[in-house]
Amino acid sequence: MLEEGPVDFGEGVEHNMTDGRRPLIAGNWKMNGGLDAVDDLAGALAGHMASLAAAPVFDMAVCPPFPLLPMIGAAIEESGVLLGAQDCHAAAKGAHTGDTSAGLLAELGCRLVIVGHSERRTDHDETDDLVRVKAEAAQAAGMAAIVCVGETEAERDAGRALEVVIGQVANSIPAASTAETLVVAYEPVWAIGTGKTATPDDAQEVHGAIRTALAERFGGNAAAAMRILYGGSMKPGNAAELLAKPDIDGGLIGGASLQADDFWAIAQAAG
Ligand code: PGA
Repeated sequence: MLEEGPVDFGEGVEHNMTDGRRPLIAGNWKMNGGLDAVDDLAGALAGHMASLAAAPVFDMAVCPPFPLLPMIGAAIEESGVLLGAQDCHAAAKGAHTGDTSAGLLAELGCRLVIVGHSERRTDHDETDDLVRVKAEAAQAAGMAAIVCVGETEAERDAGRALEVVIGQVANSIPAASTAETLVVAYEPVWAIGTGKTATPDDAQEVHGAIRTALAERFGGNAAAAMRILYGGSMKPGNAAELLAKPDIDGGLIGGASLQADDFWAIAQAAG
C-alpha cells in the first residue's frame, strides 16, 4: 500500500500518491536566459497554466540561473509552476565565494534543487560524496533534491551503464530521502544536448533498475512513490513515448525548456 493522503509538494500543489506518481516536468535552463526570459519564458508558462480548464495532472518546474530566481519567482507566483535552482552549496553559510546556500534558495521560494548534474560533475569535479551532501543541504532547507545520475558513452559501450548508474544512486542519494524530498534524474551523458535520446526501452531498463535499488534501500512503498525523471534531448517529438514507460515519471529538460511552447508541449505529453 502506498501512503494515503495528500502530499504537499510546494505551495498549493497537492497530490495523492495513491493515484500513482504525479509526473514532474522540470526545465533546466543551465547558463541560458537573460532578463527577457522573465516574460518570454516564465510569464508564458504561467499563461499556459492559467489557460488550463482543469487543475494540471503534472508538476512543472523551472530552474533558471541564480540571479534570475527572484524575478522568475515573481513571474510564476500563484501559477502552479514551481521554482527550482541548478545547484547549492553543502554548507549552511560561510566563506564560500561565489556559492549559494540552500537556505537562501528556499527563502527565495525554491522548492527544488538540481544536484550532481553531469556538467557539474565534469566541469567542477563533483564527486558522489559532494553531490550527496549538497542534496542533504537542500533537503534540510525544506526542498526536494533532484539528484542526477547517468553513464558516459564509453561506459555504455563497455556494458557498464547499469553498474555506473546504480553506483551513483547508492552514493549520491542521502539516507534520509523520501518521495517528498528526493527526485532522481537519469541523464545519460551522451544524450545531453546532443540530440541523441535513449530509446524508451533502454531508458526504462535503467529506470527500472534505479527503482529496484531505491526499493532495496528505502523500502518498496517509498520507492514506488519516488519520481525518476529522464533527461537527455527530451523534446516534444519524443516525450510521449518516453513518458509512457512505467518507470519514467517526468523529464529534466535542457534545450527544449528554453522555448515556452516546446516545454509546454512536453508537459502536455505528461498529462
Ligand atoms: P538537454 O539537457 O535536454 O538539452 O539534453 C538535459 C539536461 O542536461 O538536464
